[in-house]
Amino acid sequence: MLSAEDNEALVRTGPGTLMGGLFRRYWLPALHSWEIAERDGPPVRVKLLGEALVAFRDSDGRIGLISEFCAHRGVSLWFGRNEQCGLRCPYHGWKYDVTGQCVDLPSEGANGPMRKRIRLAAYPCIELGGVVWTYMGPPELKPEPPGIEWAHVPPGRRYVSKRLQECNYLQAMEGGIDSSHVSFLHSGALKRDPLFVGSKGNEYNLADPMPEFDVADFPGGLLIGARRNAEGGRYYWRITPWIMPAHTIIPPRAGHPLGAHVWVPIDDEHCWAWSINYHPRRALSAAELQAMKSGKGIHVNYVPGTFIPLQNKRNDYLVDRDKQKTGESYSGVEGIAMQDASLQESMGPIQDRTRENLCPTDRGIVMARRKLLDAARASLEGKPVPALRAEEQRVRSCALELPKDQHFSEHARHGLFAPPDTDPVSV
Ligand code: FES
Ligand SMILES: [Fe+2]
Repeated sequence: MLSAEDNEALVRTGPGTLMGGLFRRYWLPALHSWEIAERDGPPVRVKLLGEALVAFRDSDGRIGLISEFCAHRGVSLWFGRNEQCGLRCPYHGWKYDVTGQCVDLPSEGANGPMRKRIRLAAYPCIELGGVVWTYMGPPELKPEPPGIEWAHVPPGRRYVSKRLQECNYLQAMEGGIDSSHVSFLHSGALKRDPLFVGSKGNEYNLADPMPEFDVADFPGGLLIGARRNAEGGRYYWRITPWIMPAHTIIPPRAGHPLGAHVWVPIDDEHCWAWSINYHPRRALSAAELQAMKSGKGIHVNYVPGTFIPLQNKRNDYLVDRDKQKTGESYSGVEGIAMQDASLQESMGPIQDRTRENLCPTDRGIVMARRKLLDAARASLEGKPVPALRAEEQRVRSCALELPKDQHFSEHARHGLFAPPDTDPVSV
């Protein structure tokens, strides 16, 4: 259970909020590179941390991420003309470059004093791993580019998707930290999904629905270990890194690619669930890519032309009560991603955590909340904040069997902090 004050502090990320201040210290995924592939192509609306923005690629290939609304009389620059190194408002022709500077104000001529004064909010962008990342914090505190592993593997080893999730980022992210739900909610999918099947770990998952959770600190955030009984008097450990403020990496199964998420607040009642599969050592196979593109594993199918999942709250996620009854699907909702999203959205746009009753398997969640609040307060006071350095973000998930007297915090380091270009440690 959380106090109403702490819940408010954790979930609000708009300008001037405590958690908004923390999120503004990190590079965040803003949109796919392919959404603005073309120079002088159509601009794209981007809402992040409660701020309405528009992204475009200018004639020189530079990316602009600027305030959506024209400084003149507030027209959305989504309607803008992307031409000759700037975005021109189609109402009265004011034009802005990628830094947000007004570079043309036709009603006062080329050298008018007003033009120089007009500047929209603009945030720096970089492209990494097929994603445009932005930094929305104080310019003097801008960290080095992200070091997260999936963003640095060659393009053929990675598949990135995003979907709109219609709830606050925190309840979505908490699903990524809580691996105890896998034995229940995803039990059907473990047996069937092509990106999950064929792992001994699946059997351990299904056979032991009461994992012991143990959480270890690391410089980038938390390592959340879930321990289940395995054969031969050993334990099966699944270790999920949570990298501040909003990355999770899913432990692998057999030789399948790793899964990762970034939970990025759009506003307080919506978030982007970025979903990534990657293999650190090999290219994804045609069959794997096909499965990912067709919404298997952690990906979804979409309402055409949008990032809204085809199964969504307006159609009750196409729940199938017969499948729920027979156990073919534990909740009756098809697909791992929408199994999670349907239940997280069902909590309401912002979960009321003053009414929850946490149990021992929620330890990772409790510690992540604490770390977020501590870091946000530290940031506000000008003290050091974790996970700003690329090196602190270099960790991957792993799954392994260990003798009962060996703890993951010492005996899984070879899997968690493995060099690039190596196979995941997996069961
Ligand atoms: S509202 Fe944009 S130029 Fe007038
Ligand atoms: Fe899940």
